[in-house]
Amino acid sequence: MIDEIRLAIGPGYLYIKALHVLSAAIWSFSTTVAFSFYLKPALRAASRHPDDPALRARRDEFMRRFDKGASLEHIAFVILVITAALMLWIGRVDLMRWSFISAMLWLGILVILPMEAFDIYLSHLGGNKKRLHLAGDRERYERAMDWHWKFLRVTEPLVIVLVPAMFVIAIAKPF
Ligand code: HEM
Repeated sequence: MIDEIRLAIGPGYLYIKALHVLSAAIWSFSTTVAFSFYLKPALRAASRHPDDPALRARRDEFMRRFDKGASLEHIAFVILVITAALMLWIGRVDLMRWSFISAMLWLGILVILPMEAFDIYLSHLGGNKKRLHLAGDRERYERAMDWHWKFLRVTEPLVIVLVPAMFVIAIAKPF
């Protein structure tokens, strides 16, 4: 039965791959401009001048919008993982053999999954700034803001190196 389903969706492999590449692009770049040119300068300015209410209000507004906008990135991430799993299944990929696919899989499991889990928590779950603001919990709100800023500073260089590397590995297939 399982094998019949695999054979039935097999001819759609290239469409699944197209969806995978589209999701990879959205996951990789949908927040780039918002982060680099809006949120990062606003967070920096507010942390340099903690007593300036206008800078704090701008930081809060941009962060709330950024949390909301991150939904697009995270929906794309779920589709990226589902399409990757489908291609591994249809292609009966031998994950014990070293190849560009097993490299992507290990990078995915060891680096991307933990990073995205934390990001999803900070943007949409316990660390969602809008919800904390509406709950009137100022202390948790500031803690979530601080954690998110730390998270973005740590992951920014990682993402700058890893995302282009993953595109190159997937397309050039050097191993
Ligand atoms: C999470 C782990 C991932 C796995 C297991 C995975 C798996 C795969 C598989 C099985 C293919 C099809 C290979 C083929 O038919 O030739 C593929 C294609 C591709 N993947 Fe991924 N992928 C992952 C993540 C990513 C990420 C994060 C990116 C980009 C940042 C990416 C970009 C691509 C691209 C551009 C292709 C098309 C390559 C080509 O057709 O030449 N993948 N991936």
